[in-house]
Amino acid sequence: MKSLWVVYFSSMIKVVVLGFGNVGKHLVDAFLESDEIDLVQVYNRSRPKQFSTTPLEFTTDISEIKKADIHIVAIPDDDIASFSEEIPLENSLVVHTSGSVPMQELNTKNRQGVFYPLQTFTANRSVEFKEIPICVEAQNKEDLIVLLKLASAVSNNVQEINSEERRSLHLAAVFINNFVNHLYHISEEIVNQTNLNFNLLKPLLLETASKVINNSPKDVQTGPAKRNDQETIKKHLALLENKKYRKIYKAITKSITATYGKEL
Ligand SMILES: NC(=O)c1ccc[n+]([C@@H]2O[C@H](COP(=O)([O-])OP(=O)(O)OC[C@H]3O[C@@H](n4cnc5c(N)ncnc54)[C@H](OP(=O)(O)O)[C@@H]3O)[C@@H](O)[C@H]2O)c1
Repeated sequence: MKSLWVVYFSSMIKVVVLGFGNVGKHLVDAFLESDEIDLVQVYNRSRPKQFSTTPLEFTTDISEIKKADIHIVAIPDDDIASFSEEIPLENSLVVHTSGSVPMQELNTKNRQGVFYPLQTFTANRSVEFKEIPICVEAQNKEDLIVLLKLASAVSNNVQEINSEERRSLHLAAVFINNFVNHLYHISEEIVNQTNLNFNLLKPLLLETASKVINNSPKDVQTGPAKRNDQETIKKHLALLENKKYRKIYKAITKSITATYGKEL
């Protein structure tokens, strides 16, 4: 005889998305494409200017939030705890999408969980959702099974990851994405001060990223700091007018020379 859970999961998973920002919009698009998911409703505190072409059950009234199998809170990290307290539901599965907020910050009147898509999202830029790792966590086994099923419906890369692991993962993601992107920005500013174009650096940018797909970053580091090429480093520092950028250059150079110093 089939267990209750098997029978339960043979039906579509009912989902409500709470928040229609960068992540909320991408989740909605991915859920609408799946025939295993029934997107019951989308809530946002304000009415968005742009909607997907598919008609959506949408509300800006928190008291109208419908019951579903999973309620996904996709709002800024600092507002998750207070917002989860306002959700007019009890003993429902409420999950957030944050890399850094512990699952336990969600209000305890509902069952807590996490549905963290490990990717950078910008509202109007499409992503290949099937390739995005989805990190899930839940308080109990049954909820974990529902989250795994939901994640598997939209992604080929689903991981069970606890809050502590997710915190480290998010820290690593900040270095790999946010910090590296800021370095791109500095690089663009530097090149824009000449008659040259940032496009000239793009093959280098792509090769740097693709090299670490098959290698450890530690093994493929190059540049004046790795070689401890002091004259070149001095010339670069003299060229850098912006004090903040000089500090960044010095800090990263120091970190690289400390890493490879013994090998020189
Ligand atoms: N963006 C990413 O790359 C990314 C990746 C992975 C995970 N995450 C996580 O996903 C979550 C959402 O991030 P996001 O980038 O989608 O944020 P976002 O684009 O800034 O969107 C925030 C959404 O939350 C709503 N909102 C803001 N403050 C609120 C409040 N106090 N109460 C209720 N709703 C509120 C906004 O409504 P209005 O439209 O009315 O302003 C907006 O729809 C965060 O926890 C973030 O850490 C983000």
